[in-house]
Amino acid sequence: MPPDVGFPGNEAGTRCWRVRRADDGGVVAGVEPLGWDPAAVAADEVVIRVEAAGFNYKDALAATGHPGVMRVSPLVPGIDAAGRVVGGGGLASGTAVVVTGNGLGETRDGGFAGFVRVPAAAVIPRPATLSTEAAMACGTAGLTALIACDRLAMLVDGRHARPDEEWLVTGASGGVGMMAVAVLAAAGHRVVACSRKVSAVVTVTSLGAAAVVRPDEIIDPTPKSLVKGRWAGVVDTVGGPLLADVLRAVRPGGAVAAIGMAGGADLLTSVHPFILRGVTLAGIDAASIPTQAERAALWDRLADLWPRVAAAFPVTRLALDDVGGWAQRMLASETMGRGIVIPE
Ligand SMILES: NC(=O)c1ccc[n+]([C@@H]2O[C@H](COP(=O)([O-])OP(=O)(O)OC[C@H]3O[C@@H](n4cnc5c(N)ncnc54)[C@H](OP(=O)(O)O)[C@@H]3O)[C@@H](O)[C@H]2O)c1
Repeated sequence: MPPDVGFPGNEAGTRCWRVRRADDGGVVAGVEPLGWDPAAVAADEVVIRVEAAGFNYKDALAATGHPGVMRVSPLVPGIDAAGRVVGGGGLASGTAVVVTGNGLGETRDGGFAGFVRVPAAAVIPRPATLSTEAAMACGTAGLTALIACDRLAMLVDGRHARPDEEWLVTGASGGVGMMAVAVLAAAGHRVVACSRKVSAVVTVTSLGAAAVVRPDEIIDPTPKSLVKGRWAGVVDTVGGPLLADVLRAVRPGGAVAAIGMAGGADLLTSVHPFILRGVTLAGIDAASIPTQAERAALWDRLADLWPRVAAAFPVTRLALDDVGGWAQRMLASETMGRGIVIPE
């Protein structure tokens, strides 16, 4: 069926940023008309006019055709979106909403578009005190930081606690890293932020870090499977060799929340931190937060947290035409905080 030009999403000038696999194995990507088939909108879907979309690491991978994230072709990336309901799902037209995950930008078109359609069960009313852009600055990164810090709060064994003990956040200049620094500091912990960027020091300190270190300053050069136990809890967004090194330096009863793989997906470690210090390595998968109610509760907590971080948290507004360039910069680790795409 040809696109209905009167249908939301097919109005003149409605655009998206789309990536598709080419026959030669490469990818072709850029700004295109959205061009929806109205008949393809399912009865249980909500159509949202996108006002802003957060730019997550996963979106950078999708935008460059990473097969682990770009599960269908063609695809509009954007795992987070905020905007207003146009119709569907029994929600009043104009309701301010947010949506994260639920296959957006991976198995179905995501938020880098003038409109997005999503399963009704994915839609969360945007907290009234959180602006559209603030919501997308937080987005999946903020939800993930909260989930990770909640998990650590349950796992870190207080029987071994020492006064002024330290909690570590790796990849601290990134979206998840900065939010994790703020969440842990708000919980009263002494936070050490680990970043390779000198330019991030002022920002992460403003977000609550008591100290900022480079990775080489916390890596013990000896090959021992255990080194002096320093960290009570760790939020790790980097993975790879840095995670392996950090595990050796977790104090007895401490815990590590493994979130990301920006620095590598392989983990070469030993069982010694686990069997000799009772360290816990906990995996975090924000996409599997089970219920809509739990997600709504996390959004309320982000709304409470945002005033503490707003002044310091770097937010970069991007147009659809900027998506390809920002993805390259993000994968090269040249970005800080969160980019947000304003579709029009
Ligand atoms: N498990 C989940 O549910 C979940 C949810 C959200 C995100 N994630 C993952 O978490 C990670 C961070 O996501 P994000 O959106 O915060 O990304 P981001 O904004 O790009 O931040 C990633 C940070 O990792 C560090 N980094 C990047 N490349 C590195 C390398 N080669 N070696 C060491 N450090 C490196 C950089 O920090 P410095 O320059 O400051 O060192 C960078 O700022 C990604 O892997 C993402 O896929 C997972």
